[in-house]
Formats: sequence, structure tokens, C-alpha cells
Amino acid sequence: MRIQRNGGTQPHPQTEKPDLQALRLAVSDKKNREGGLIPLLQLVQNEYGYLPEEAFGIISEATGLPIADIYGVATFYAQFRLQPVGKNIIRVCHGTACHVQNANALSEALHEELAIEDGQTSADGLFTLEHVACLGCCSLAPVMMVGENTHSKLSAKSALKIIREIKNQASQDQTNA
Ligand code: FES
Repeated sequence: MRIQRNGGTQPHPQTEKPDLQALRLAVSDKKNREGGLIPLLQLVQNEYGYLPEEAFGIISEATGLPIADIYGVATFYAQFRLQPVGKNIIRVCHGTACHVQNANALSEALHEELAIEDGQTSADGLFTLEHVACLGCCSLAPVMMVGENTHSKLSAKSALKIIREIKNQASQDQTNA
């Protein structure tokens, strides 16, 4: 079963150096600075999918805050990423209901299929794998999200089918490009 969720920002794949000019403009905008550091970090992450190293110096210049303090905030909150992410973020739920319904089998199958561990990105840049707590649809356990799509009542086999379809689509797109 697949549930399409609306809203929220889809993380961007980051395969190139960030456009620093756009970053400078975004963080130096007075309106953005007024909200404080966390909204500023969220703005950068929404744009780039993670917090590029260069962002810390630019935010420091714009706000007057020491880089160490900005880095401290960015590493304190789990929502912020310091590394680029894949085109598709796979979130496998390991909350209680999903754990009981064998979420481990999904994760193990995905680790093997993609040759990555939790928090890592596949070599082709297509997938980043994350283990997360409850995704809010426990009656449909076990659950994983791929981007904004929620897939429920999964087995290892059905989870792999979803991932392989995305891989196939990506390679077709590449062939047609
Ligand atoms: S425990 Fe997985 S959705 Fe709630």
C-alpha cells in the first residue's frame, strides 16, 4: 500500500558544489535573519538537502555568531544533516509497532541491496537510508517512506521491489537523457 503525503520539503540530491551566491543571498536577507539561527539553518537545508560546510562561514558573517556556536546548534538537533543526501531518502520505521512486525527484516534487506548502513548514501547517489522512530501510521506496520511516499504492511520482498522499481526508472531516465 502506498500513501502519497503532501507538503514538506523533499530533500534535494547534492551531487555538485553548492551555489554559494544563492546561499549568501538567502542568509543575508534581513527577513531570514530575524527568525533566529534555527530557521536560517532550516532554510539552508531545505535548499541544499543538507548544511554545506561553506554555509557556516556565510551564516557567521551574516549573523555575527561564531562558527563554533552555529556548528554546535547544527549538531545538537537531529533534523540537521552535515552530509549530502541521496536523491531518495528511505526512512524505515523502527518504532514499537513496526519493530514487532519485523522492521529489522526490511532494514537488513535494504542494507544488503544498497550496500549501505543506516545514515549512509548509496554509491550511485540514488538512496540515503535512515532508521527512524514512529512515522504515525502504526496500524499499517511495518512502514517505510521513500521521499514523501509512505509504503505500508511491507515484507523484505515488497520493500526491495519498491527500491528496484526506482532504480530501474532512474536507469531508464539516464538512458533517455
Ligand atoms: S511504529 Fe512504525 S509507524 Fe508507528
